[in-house]
Amino acid sequence: MMQTPQLPAPTPEALAASNVLLERIRSAIEAAGGWLPFSDYMRMALYEPGLGYYSGGATKFGEAGDFVTAPELSPLFGACIAETAAAVLQALKGGDVLEFGAGTGVLAAQILAGLERLDGLPDHYYIVDLSAELKQRQLQTLQARVPHLADRVVWLNELPDHLHGFIVANEVLDAIPCSLIHTSDAGVSERGVSWQAGQLAWADRPAGIALQEAVDELGLPPGYTTEVSLEARGFTASLATVLEAGAALLIDYGFPAREYYHPERHMGTLIGHYRHHSIHDPFFLPGLTDLTCHVDFSAIFEAGSDTGLMLEGYVNQAQYLLDTGILAKLEGLGADNAKLYLPAVGAVQKLTSPAEMGELFKVMAFSKNLALPALLPGFRQADESYRL
Ligand SMILES: C[S@@+](CC[C@H](N)C(=O)[O-])C[C@H]1O[C@@H](n2cnc3c(N)ncnc32)[C@H](O)[C@@H]1O
Repeated sequence: MMQTPQLPAPTPEALAASNVLLERIRSAIEAAGGWLPFSDYMRMALYEPGLGYYSGGATKFGEAGDFVTAPELSPLFGACIAETAAAVLQALKGGDVLEFGAGTGVLAAQILAGLERLDGLPDHYYIVDLSAELKQRQLQTLQARVPHLADRVVWLNELPDHLHGFIVANEVLDAIPCSLIHTSDAGVSERGVSWQAGQLAWADRPAGIALQEAVDELGLPPGYTTEVSLEARGFTASLATVLEAGAALLIDYGFPAREYYHPERHMGTLIGHYRHHSIHDPFFLPGLTDLTCHVDFSAIFEAGSDTGLMLEGYVNQAQYLLDTGILAKLEGLGADNAKLYLPAVGAVQKLTSPAEMGELFKVMAFSKNLALPALLPGFRQADESYRL
């Protein structure tokens, strides 16, 4: 018989913070007349100032946290992204880098170190994150890993008016609040959150026009529950406004619409992460559990193209990393240094294996007003854009 794993208990302080957030969510439900769209619940659970998963004190990243992201696994990940960034900055004859959702700051440190090696440092490395709490952590990482480059990093509270350069967002789209929908013979309903018998409970309402239109395009059968991320589309459209000239690289787990909304995936992809356990109840310990849904890359492609971005490429993470030379970079570490080399081999395997992150994670590049002399590094050997 399968046993339910015992979940690690939160500290009393963490539990108290989660209860304060729960009370705030309850008040928000009441203020909204008894019902909050799931996307609003997800926004509060992740980003409520001081209490949300990303904006509160949870450890989040790494072994002691809830999940591990690619740059946390290996510095070679950021070194590969630096190859793409360098080609963009070179074509522009200089410029800035803008990273969304910089996590612990490791990716920023890796990209800056990589660009230095490639003799292509940006004038500024901007970071925009919804979580102010992470800024201190990012600064510490940068000062520890690339102290001589840390003064190029500038934290912005809002998007710059325009950017001439390279934009990168790793695992940001999946952390943008999504709407939950359910189809039935009666039509499309939006799934939301109510408060019943002293706890959070699911409640459905007829979907509004924007959501209804987005769902209609998907041609879903009745009895299908899934997510639609209008906000991730809005985020992509905002890149077109910000990017004056250059390219944007979006990396995340997800699929093209045809695979995402496959009849067999009728329960959607919404999932929680808590201390390296998958959580199927999105109401579990709000503020202490990460909530995420996979990315519909067809929708992201459309949102970008509709707003003036040009697709430069769409590949899986393995294809991207192999084309940007992850194997040569691995060799460069020196096989004679077993202490360094063996964990690096393990990390590269995890990043590229189709059974791990290599196939599920995708890399999409958009450009605007950018004359490239050749295909962008990362997209020279493969092209999966026909699947979008
Ligand atoms: C899963 S974490 C990824 C962190 C990091 N990029 C990494 O790979 O380790 C998602 C991050 O995206 C940020 N985020 C979500 N939506 C955002 C937005 N619209 N603008 C900027 N940051 C955002 C969150 O605050 C969080 O830091």
